[in-house]
Amino acid sequence: MGKTILFSPGLLLHLSLTSLLLLTAINAIHSLTLPSDIAALQAFKASIKPSTIPPWSCLASWNFSTDPCSLPRRTYFLCGLGCSPDSASVTSITLDSAGYSGTLSPLVSKISQLTILDLSDNSFHGSVPPSLSSLFLLQILSIPRNSFSGPLPPSIGNLKSLTELDLSGNFLSGSLPNTLFHLSSLKRLDLSFNKFTGSIPKLPSNLLELAMKANSLSGSLRHSSFDGLTQLEVVELSVNSFAGVLQSWFFRLPSLQQVNLSNNSLTGVEILKPNGGYIELVAVDLGFNKIEGYVPANFFYYPMLASLSMRYNRLRGLIPWQFGKKRTLKRLYLDGNYLIGNPPAEFFSGDPSVSGSFSYNCLQSCPPSSQLCSPSQKPTATCKQAYGGRKPLS
Ligand SMILES: *[C@@H]1O[C@H](CO)[C@@H](O)[C@H](O)[C@H]1NC(C)=O
Ligand SMILES: *[C@@H]1O[C@H](CO)[C@@H](O)[C@H](O)[C@H]1NC(C)=O
Ligand SMILES: *[C@@H]1O[C@H](CO)[C@@H](O)[C@H](O)[C@H]1NC(C)=O
Repeated sequence: MGKTILFSPGLLLHLSLTSLLLLTAINAIHSLTLPSDIAALQAFKASIKPSTIPPWSCLASWNFSTDPCSLPRRTYFLCGLGCSPDSASVTSITLDSAGYSGTLSPLVSKISQLTILDLSDNSFHGSVPPSLSSLFLLQILSIPRNSFSGPLPPSIGNLKSLTELDLSGNFLSGSLPNTLFHLSSLKRLDLSFNKFTGSIPKLPSNLLELAMKANSLSGSLRHSSFDGLTQLEVVELSVNSFAGVLQSWFFRLPSLQQVNLSNNSLTGVEILKPNGGYIELVAVDLGFNKIEGYVPANFFYYPMLASLSMRYNRLRGLIPWQFGKKRTLKRLYLDGNYLIGNPPAEFFSGDPSVSGSFSYNCLQSCPPSSQLCSPSQKPTATCKQAYGGRKPLS
């Protein structure tokens, strides 16, 4: 600042006018946007079938006879694209769901300042290009409900800025790369509704939401995969082939709120009383597994638990009486097991906020007139067989 005092005000004005004219002249000839970004955008558009670009869509307005980032945008580049404040670089591609069909050009990886790539609800097919890993600033990679196939490239682990990765609803296959845990900024990971196989590798430690629903994942849930995930709130792993015993470390993940592990092949659940701290577990669904043993009474000690399903497993014995005393517990589904004794009377007080089912067990008294017991218990013969030919004790 001090140096400008050396110039007279007239000279200063002259200088700035000259530079303004010069800039305007340059703009008229050249674009503001980095030529490499423009070339990458052109390649991106060129790999989408023109017949799938409706005239009213964002992509239809991408006409490269004008500069993509120059403002105001009155005719061209009306949407689907975001630029840096100086209009020099493309920072986001957020396409509309217009039904675009095509492949994702590997050249998008040349858009070096890209922070968001969102292609949700279109018909992109082909592979997820490994070259995306060079987008060091990428924060959101969201391509759900397309037709991408092939593996998730291990180079994905290089995306250190990534906070959200949504690949749900595609045809991605193969095992999950061991490099996932390198995604140190990742908060939300959704790989649901794909064809991934194998087990869950070590997960990135800052994860809040983990969803891998409806894949073909297998093996047991290992502590080493979840170790250090102190912020993990949501675990949605239903409709896979996870097996083995869900061990006690699982429900001690300190931030856990919602767990859905239904429709797997788990054979047991270990659950201890929570060990202090602020326990937020609200909803647990372990239905449609092969869980043996007793209904874990220790769920009683989770102060916020409102919803528990262990329906259609192989549970035996009594329903823990404590569940009747648990005011927060409003949904309790235990139908389709071999439970004996009586259901907790408190659930039959007519409270309309209470729902659940105790049907299709071996309960001594469960009034079929109540919604909670309808339609019926298991046939006596089935129950006798389950308890080794003896009439089950009540
Ligand atoms: C792109 O813009 C130029 C100049 O305005 C125009 O002549 C051309 O028809 C446009 N192309 C498309 C595909 O709209
Ligand atoms: C758990 O997942 C299953 C299968 O995806 C779904 O049907 C069920 O509603 C989910 N449970 C809860 C409590 O949302
Ligand atoms: C879960 O499993 C049950 C029993 O096999 C099946 O009826 C149900 O459709 C499954 N749910 C999902 C969402 O696949």
